[in-house]
Amino acid sequence: MEFPSSIWKFLGCFFLVINHVCAFCLSHTGISSTNNLYSLKKTSLSAGQGFSTKKGKPRFNFTGTTIPGKISPRRKVPEHIKRPDYAADGIPKAKSPIFPWDIEVKTEKDIEAMRVSGRIAREVLDIAGKAVQAGITTDEIDIIVHEACIERNSYPSPLNYRAFPKSVCTSLNEIICHGIPDSTVLKNGDILNIDVTVYHNGYHGDCSEMFCVGEVDDKAKDLLQVTYDAWQEAAAFCKPGRAYKDIGAIIEDYVTKRGYTTVPDFCGHGIGTMFHTNPNILHYRNDHPNGKMEKGHVFTIEPMICEGKAKTVTWPDNWTAATADGKRSAQFEHTFLLTATGVEPLTAKLADSPKQFWEK
Ligand code: MF3
Ligand code: CO
Ligand code: CO
Repeated sequence: MEFPSSIWKFLGCFFLVINHVCAFCLSHTGISSTNNLYSLKKTSLSAGQGFSTKKGKPRFNFTGTTIPGKISPRRKVPEHIKRPDYAADGIPKAKSPIFPWDIEVKTEKDIEAMRVSGRIAREVLDIAGKAVQAGITTDEIDIIVHEACIERNSYPSPLNYRAFPKSVCTSLNEIICHGIPDSTVLKNGDILNIDVTVYHNGYHGDCSEMFCVGEVDDKAKDLLQVTYDAWQEAAAFCKPGRAYKDIGAIIEDYVTKRGYTTVPDFCGHGIGTMFHTNPNILHYRNDHPNGKMEKGHVFTIEPMICEGKAKTVTWPDNWTAATADGKRSAQFEHTFLLTATGVEPLTAKLADSPKQFWEK
């Protein structure tokens, strides 16, 4: 039986809305600045933050110790490297299916290619992580990532994605995600998320890790360990037939029991020839119709866990997401392949990958 087309349109709009309020989608508005300014004002004002006026000049109240540095000029990618569809104008052209439960099953050929992209993303992330030390800038990390991608015949996926200006995201302390590399200098005691995505042979691979600068306090160590363990629990839950929405409750229950919160404004995502597509992976308890796990799906899980409240504030750069209370946040991410029995990380660590303190 068919529904009258008006009903289809109505349902279509409804699920588009669902699709577009969640997660990456809040930052999806990167290019349509009207939308983003609105959410910026709304979030910051209700948090008692926002724009204050000093000598008539609008000034943004940053919520923690991190403030914007100087962003260096845009880096070039050699002509011979294959580019994603948004590289020139910042606008992704390929569209996700309308219905959030409509998820692409990858072919063997897709999967083989994604193993390669995943492996390259991991190599690049490891190289960046090994460079982390007090005294270097996040811009230097960007150079390292940019060059390592090019050496591997890969385009650094963040570069010009919805106008993101750099080749990697570097999110320091209270920055939740989408931090822009700049002249900010890393110092002893900082925690840093580096999020690397590469585009190789037509497919993206996406992963992130936390890195400690020198000696960090015990609270930071606990935050990292709880975030990692919640993420691993979520991965262990995945197998064919289960619902994507149920990942959220696992993460939320794990972290709230231990005194932490989970960020609702950004989600994990399907990935492949597109950087972000179905399914939406929400990291909090929810009832969204985001489909069922099937062998051959490829998606990320990337929870952002906070010491304080999970409320977010977006900087005037329209990208950097900080905690409204200025407390720290941590995140880990893999690109996972759903197999007959569970998940396999396509961005798995290698024998010589940098280790977390609990892995040593
Ligand atoms: N890598 C991020 C993710 O996990 C997305 C970054 S988009 C960028 O989905 F434009 F900020 F790079
Ligand atoms: Co990522
Ligand atoms: Co991702």
